[in-house]
Amino acid sequence: MRKKVLLFALSLLLTFTGVAAENYVLSSNNTSLVISANKDGNANYKYFGPRIEKSEIGGIDGARIGTNQATYPTFGLHSLSEKAIVTQMADGNLSLDLTVTDIQQTTDDNGQLLVITFKDKVYPFVMKQYFKVYNGTDVFSTWVDLENQDKKAISLLRYYSACVPLQRGNNYSSHLEGYWANEGGLYEQPVNNGQIVLSNKEQTCIGRGVSSSIMVTFDGVPQESTGRVFGASLRWTGNHKLILNARDNALTLLAGINDDAATYTLESKDVFTTPELIMAYSTEGKGGVSRAFHRWALKYGLMHGDKLRDILLNSWEGVYMNVNQPVMDQMMADISALGGELFVMDDGWFGDKYPRDTDKSSLGDWVVNKKKLPEGIEGLVASAKKHGVKFGIWIEPEMSNTKSELFENHPEWILQHKNRPLTQGRGGTQVVLDLTNPKVQDYVFSITDNLLTKHPEIAYIKWDNNAEIMNYNSLYLPANRQQELNVRYQMGIQKVLKRIRDKYKDVVIQLCAGGGGRVSYGFLPYFDEFWTSDNTDAMQRLFIQWGDTHFFPAKAMASHVSASPNHQTHRTLPLKFRFDVAMTGRLGMELQPKDMKPEEKEFSKRSIAAYKEIRPIVQEGDLYRLVSPYERKPITALMYANADKSKIVVFAYRMEYLHSQKIEPLLLTGVDENKKYLIKDLTPWEADKPNNLNGKTVSGKILKYMGLGLGQTLNRPESSMAIELIAQ
Ligand code: DGJ
Repeated sequence: MRKKVLLFALSLLLTFTGVAAENYVLSSNNTSLVISANKDGNANYKYFGPRIEKSEIGGIDGARIGTNQATYPTFGLHSLSEKAIVTQMADGNLSLDLTVTDIQQTTDDNGQLLVITFKDKVYPFVMKQYFKVYNGTDVFSTWVDLENQDKKAISLLRYYSACVPLQRGNNYSSHLEGYWANEGGLYEQPVNNGQIVLSNKEQTCIGRGVSSSIMVTFDGVPQESTGRVFGASLRWTGNHKLILNARDNALTLLAGINDDAATYTLESKDVFTTPELIMAYSTEGKGGVSRAFHRWALKYGLMHGDKLRDILLNSWEGVYMNVNQPVMDQMMADISALGGELFVMDDGWFGDKYPRDTDKSSLGDWVVNKKKLPEGIEGLVASAKKHGVKFGIWIEPEMSNTKSELFENHPEWILQHKNRPLTQGRGGTQVVLDLTNPKVQDYVFSITDNLLTKHPEIAYIKWDNNAEIMNYNSLYLPANRQQELNVRYQMGIQKVLKRIRDKYKDVVIQLCAGGGGRVSYGFLPYFDEFWTSDNTDAMQRLFIQWGDTHFFPAKAMASHVSASPNHQTHRTLPLKFRFDVAMTGRLGMELQPKDMKPEEKEFSKRSIAAYKEIRPIVQEGDLYRLVSPYERKPITALMYANADKSKIVVFAYRMEYLHSQKIEPLLLTGVDENKKYLIKDLTPWEADKPNNLNGKTVSGKILKYMGLGLGQTLNRPESSMAIELIAQ
């Protein structure tokens, strides 16, 4: 008894004096994360900011800036603020009280890790919390494993990935939000006391609505190249919730799987791993955080991040569902003649009993429509070979239509309520397959597997998804597991994608969900790129792409030149403007080339050749956003620079035109001020009439601090500029 009292007194002393709490540091080149933890005690966040050395850590307490917030606040004891986790034990108890039992510093194949193990003081519940810094990047991450060591099940009512304290100051938040054909809208607001909640329940289309990424500033209104900024993004494929919780002197970011109607039963001996929250910190404004995420993505967060992307033609807006062998052959010939490298046949190629002529039928019947394509995929592959381009194909494997052979044969594979009429989506007949069911997972895997086994020449798959879960009930899951539907759907789809990637390492796969409905780092380890939006209007794309670049790299952002007037907005824009916009991402075309005039074809050919020249700079360089389209200045501009800033590409667009309207000089913040650059117009409308900057040599100092005068270059409504700067 005396021993117990002594131990208790000692632990109290350690807790309150912090004597035994050690500081654990994870550092990248520019950033440090410090966690203080002691065995038999607590773990607290102490610091996340500019890189500091071990000798400076004492100063965190000295300057009284340490956050000292628990690394994973639990519900049921202590204060009433927002918690990272709420559990319910078999006896109904809702509280959790975690003590550190082990602290390890270790490594995995791509980073350094700090792993802290906790145990509840009363219940056999164990948590492992991970903190990681990715090698060669400025990106950190955190997540937890939740383990039920009890004999009975435990309910996880809330199971977030993280609860990170941020410095309270003059904070603003930036996040993306939108809807179909208007994704990626950038919303920036002051952080007042209260909560900013980014809650998404779009289930299978979580890139729409509110996105799972956020930036928070510490020095007021978000700036591109100055000020301290924190950024975070959740690597999850389904419903998420981010809560920025502000009180007078405290600010925390909670992030994880959305806990609304999502209680998860953790069976005895089961472990649940939460998604990872990636984080970056920069003193170079939002631009610094974006560049950190982009560099990380190319190394770790995006499939084939180290490979350049092909220039493609997609058939959708060119012919919609009217695909057939001669038209596909013609489109392949045309894109090849323009210098493209890949052709993708979109929707409309499949269905036997029910041919896919409209969106009212056939999803699930992944057999070639022999009327449209009598020579089958073999014929298309032969055409592609003849024209010297690669071949890709569209599928929407997670779906069915009520008018399909799949639905007739397996109605039980559809998510549905037994006792309610079936809510049907696109075309009035689209329904969602039950990916919680392993048989359905096998079936969805087999769609890609069959295509790629029979036709190994298929180089690219466009994986579409055009419905969220409309009938929230699984015939596979038992009654007491229905709340796990979304989480288990996501586990199911991830399992399928992993199987595909284990077997097919090289195939390029585009992530599409009615446009940008799935843009998230949860998916991108399996996908090479995302279809940014079904809206291909270059003027609106300036906004959508501006938003996406805050978190995602240009290489992943599919950006296509489409017809004018645009099919979504009916806006008419010059072909040069459309090219200059599409060239800031992964360039492609999305029209019927047969309908182009000879001079348009000639311009396209030159522009595609120019893109090939600058492709590594755009796809692998550092992005500097220069003038926001939201500022309506009346231009918007951005630039990419290669690693040593010897090659730079600058894009600028006139968004609005009034006579004698003021245009401020364009400061090229990303150039090397000690270099001299020769300017080259990349996309003159007439080959022999480049713009008035072409051929000039200007020093980096002038470009950075005095800028480029664009009054004469962007001197027409909807004029645009794409120039390369080559260091001399
Ligand atoms: C939605 C996609 O976003 C489009 O690009 C196209 O593939 C259609 N689906 C086809 O149905």
